[in-house]
Amino acid sequence: MIMLFFLAFAQCESNTYAKGEAVYQAYCSNCHMDDGMGLKRVYPPLKSDYAKLNFNNLACIIQNGLDEEIIVNKTKYHLAMEGYPQINEFQMTNLINYINHKFELDQSYQSVYDIRKQLKNCKN
Ligand code: HEC
Repeated sequence: MIMLFFLAFAQCESNTYAKGEAVYQAYCSNCHMDDGMGLKRVYPPLKSDYAKLNFNNLACIIQNGLDEEIIVNKTKYHLAMEGYPQINEFQMTNLINYINHKFELDQSYQSVYDIRKQLKNCKN
C-alpha cells in the first residue's frame, strides 16, 4: 500500500516536470537555453542567484516581462524580455516547478494556488 503511494507520487512528479519542460521548450529555451545558462552577456542564466532570490516573483516576471538593469550571477544585463500572458496558471505552475527542479534553485514546490496568489499580486 505504502509502496503504491510512493509509486503514484513519483509518477505524478515526473509528469509535472515533463509538462513544465514542454512549456520551457516552447517559450524559454531559445534564449535561456536547455541548460538554463543563457547566452553570454545577452540572455541571463536561470540557474542563478537572481532566480533564487526572486523565486516568489518568477510567475509575475514571466507573465509581464522584465525591462530593467539586473545583476545575475555577478553580470549586468539589460535587454527587455517580453511577457507571456498566454501561459495559463496550470502551465505556469508546471513551468516554475520545472525551473526550480532542473536549475537547482532549492525552493519549495508550488501549487497552482500559490501561483494564482502570486499572479494576483504582481508589482510589475
Ligand atoms: C527572446 C529571448 C527571451 C525569451 C524567449 C525568454 N526570456 Fe527571460 N529574459 C530575457 C532577457 C533579455 C532578460 C533580462 C531582462 C532585463 O534585463 O530586464 C530575461 C530575464 C529573465 C528572468 C530574470 C533574470 C534571471 O535570469 O533569473 C527570468 C526568471 C526569465 N527571464 C525567465 C524566462 C522564462 C521562464 C521564459 C519562458 C517563459 C523566458 N524567460 C523567455 C530573454 C528572454
